[in-house]
Amino acid sequence: MSNLQSQVNWQHWLHRWDAQQSGYLPLREERFQVMLNALALTMPESFTALDLACGPGAISQRLLQRFPHARCIGVDYDPVLLAIGQGALGTIGDRLRWVEADLTQEDWVKLLGDTQVDAVLSTTALHWLPSDRLVKLYQQLGQLVRPGGVFLNGDHLYFPPHLETFNRLAKRVQVQQEQQAFIENNQEDWKRWWQAIADEPDFKALLEERQRRFAPRATENEPTLAIHVAALQEAGFREVETIWQRWDDRILVAIR
Ligand SMILES: C[S@@+](CC[C@H](N)C(=O)[O-])C[C@H]1O[C@@H](n2cnc3c(N)ncnc32)[C@H](O)[C@@H]1O
Repeated sequence: MSNLQSQVNWQHWLHRWDAQQSGYLPLREERFQVMLNALALTMPESFTALDLACGPGAISQRLLQRFPHARCIGVDYDPVLLAIGQGALGTIGDRLRWVEADLTQEDWVKLLGDTQVDAVLSTTALHWLPSDRLVKLYQQLGQLVRPGGVFLNGDHLYFPPHLETFNRLAKRVQVQQEQQAFIENNQEDWKRWWQAIADEPDFKALLEERQRRFAPRATENEPTLAIHVAALQEAGFREVETIWQRWDDRILVAIR
């Protein structure tokens, strides 16, 4: 971290990230708590979890606070979000390790330093992976999660295309939520958040690196729930089921 960057108020940016994400997901905190409740039911007192596509570490922060004997590995490829997470949370008493890795590349698992974990958690992230890459990622999770361990994914896991009404209503609910947050309540949205980062000279180098790393991606054909379930079963997860749902926003649990 350069001297300039060490002057950044990381806590401020972390809070601002959480607020922005909650505009899209008013039940974001509830979803985290339900995921952690599932860990409380399935994990021993001491366990290792992977926070997949962690951003600035929302899952890691909450998990390590709730489970004082756990440790966590946060993996992401965004240098800005990783810097905010590292700056605001640090290592939480040596229990949190940050790994910079591109989940679209086959070798990301090698960069982890651990060959097996008890649990993998992910939120609001994997929907951007194209189906073929998602299938490969789940194959890797099938190797990484120990037998009896769990994978929890809190994300938009879409209805199949033939359920037209469900798809339409889920979309309408999302539009209403965003309208309330970003128009009626004037909360900061994704675009304004990134603009605010761009307006901070201290983020210039990190932002340039981010732009080098992430090409604009297509958002069509994001995987449906059925694709997630089939790919997890194929990867060796014995039982896969939704444990919490608000339209297409779900927590999918897979038991290895
Ligand atoms: C909407 S954010 C969610 C972050 C965090 N899980 C949360 O709930 O606050 C999506 C995350 O996916 C990460 N991501 C996108 N493409 C990635 C890739 N190729 N490899 C690793 N992470 C990636 C982004 O950097 C970002 O942190």
